[in-house]
Amino acid sequence: MPFVNRALTVTFVFFVATAANVAGQAPQPTAAPTAKPEEGIPVTDATVQKACGSCHRPDDKGQMSRISFIRTTPEGWQTIIQRMAALNGLNIEPATARQVVKYLATNHGLAPEEAKPAAWEAERRLIDFKYTANSDAESTCNKCHSLGRIISQRRTRTEWDLLIATHRGLYPLVDNQAFRRGGPPPRDAASDGRPPDNRHPFEKTIAHLSSTFPLKTPEWTAWSANMRPARLDGTWALTGWENGKGAIYGRVTITAGSSPDEFTTNATYRVARTGETITRTGRGIVYTGFQWRGASSTQAADSSMREVMMVDRNWRSMEGRWFNGGYDEIGMDVKLERVGNDTRVLGTDRTALKQGSTAQELKIYGTNLGSLRPADVDLGPGITVSRVVSSTPELATVAVDVAATAAVGARDLFVAGASRPKALAVYDKIDTIKVKPDWAMARVGGDTFPKMLAQFEAWGYSNGADGKPDSPDDIELGIVDANWTMEEYAATYNDDDIKFVGVLNEATGRFTPNVDGPNPKRSGERNNVGDVWVVAKVLGDSVSGKPAPTLRARAHLLVTVPLYMRFDPARGQ
Ligand code: HEC
Ligand code: HEC
Repeated sequence: MPFVNRALTVTFVFFVATAANVAGQAPQPTAAPTAKPEEGIPVTDATVQKACGSCHRPDDKGQMSRISFIRTTPEGWQTIIQRMAALNGLNIEPATARQVVKYLATNHGLAPEEAKPAAWEAERRLIDFKYTANSDAESTCNKCHSLGRIISQRRTRTEWDLLIATHRGLYPLVDNQAFRRGGPPPRDAASDGRPPDNRHPFEKTIAHLSSTFPLKTPEWTAWSANMRPARLDGTWALTGWENGKGAIYGRVTITAGSSPDEFTTNATYRVARTGETITRTGRGIVYTGFQWRGASSTQAADSSMREVMMVDRNWRSMEGRWFNGGYDEIGMDVKLERVGNDTRVLGTDRTALKQGSTAQELKIYGTNLGSLRPADVDLGPGITVSRVVSSTPELATVAVDVAATAAVGARDLFVAGASRPKALAVYDKIDTIKVKPDWAMARVGGDTFPKMLAQFEAWGYSNGADGKPDSPDDIELGIVDANWTMEEYAATYNDDDIKFVGVLNEATGRFTPNVDGPNPKRSGERNNVGDVWVVAKVLGDSVSGKPAPTLRARAHLLVTVPLYMRFDPARGQ
């Protein structure tokens, strides 16, 4: 499989084949002679015609074989072009490849309604996706790559058929391993008396895909008629969530770039809980009028993040994920909203205040907060704002007192007419903690393959009015500082995985696996894989003079081998 260098300073870096394989004429779509040929999307761009036309000849309508009959995401087009270079003998400069991706992702792209269900694929979310619309597709097509690759494509019937041929070419064992039914065909009639459906799983799948994901759709017809470059320059409020760190708030300045769909960015944001401030500069391209693809970094090495967001059609908000890591596992959910003249409350640094606590400093993140007076800030019954410690348009710090009698529960926050529902909670004591996620996987790496890290968070809970844990009135207190350790997950006698799997940062809850490859110090020279418990400990509240209890929770961590094969070059490496 072609593995490709990850994009660092530019959005896309292309693998350029040095030893080109036999350059072949691309197979032409062969529709049944009687059927009317399916209409495609003419290619009008000279760069694409020149770069791809030697093998994909245009017809008299400007339709290029294969290319005119497929629509997909920027990543989909990028992957196709990488394969053309790696396997089919395409010779292309990275700058030209970027232009081709831009043209095709925009003109042979997806409408927002089509892209949305597959957004997790481009955002590289590690989710357990189930394609419930068709069980043949679900079981036949998820064995080697994600179903996100499939639901982010639109093709003519001929092109869905040719995809099977492509797979046979790329992966000669595919028929026996996935596409065909094992064993004899069903002989009994269906329950309704119809003859048995003898089609192989791939045939049923292709029939389903070509009717569900055709080239021509009302969504695409409508969107392509209305499509234009999104004008995004201006100031945007950023709210987000970074795994392990919690909420982040800040602003992004987007500046128009050298062409109407290119931008430069400057983002400054704080981790709400800790106040850590991060500044990133970067660039972005908007494909199809709504698909933001960017890359940004701080001054630090290895700080580059890919940015994948969907711009709302009103150009006032965009949402998605910024990520990095060997498996894109480190990242944050991000939402940008255009800053106008109105006051907005984005969030607070703490999400819980204790009954009977005084002179508590609370940071409020927002836009146009103005110069606040205590009376401008309202946290509801039992909480008094005694003083404004400092106040800027984007960040105000206020001192609050919480009455001993303040009722426990969530409080809406009002600031100078703006509000944030359930911004924080009043609680009496922290009763339990949970580790999120309660199960995670990491992969050894660093020698031949990249490492896949794992990030844990400790969340605090108060039992609420009923005094019982795990009941509906529990009060969620948000992320709490914890001390992190590992314990052996005893799966075998004398299990000693804990000595080999890697290191858990005791303050941040981030696990970094050990190096990949056989370890001579380990019995049987095994790789540094194994199972451990990840344990969080948090000091609870002391009640009626008794010593504070240590609250404990744990999660299961499986440290496994790298993904040796990744049928997915756009993912990077
Ligand atoms: C040197 C010949 C050559 C060039 C140049 C070439 N291709 Fe191809 N292309 C092929 C061959 C051979 C196939 C069929 C095998 C395959 O799908 O990999 C193909 C298949 C395709 C397909 C169908 C893939 C699928 O998923 O079903 C697309 C789309 C495509 N090419 C796009 C492009 C684009 C875009 C360019 C220009 C950047 C390009 N090709 C340049 C040879 C070429
Ligand atoms: C045996 C492994 C395997 C199975 C099973 C499999 N695929 Fe693939 N698929 C691949 C490989 C390999 C690629 C090429 C990856 C690349 O371009 O780098 C691919 C690429 C694709 C692409 C992208 C094509 C392109 O031009 O980039 C689509 C769409 C796709 N597969 C659909 C399907 C569908 C639909 C099924 C079920 C009928 C399926 N796959 C089952 C291995 C598999």
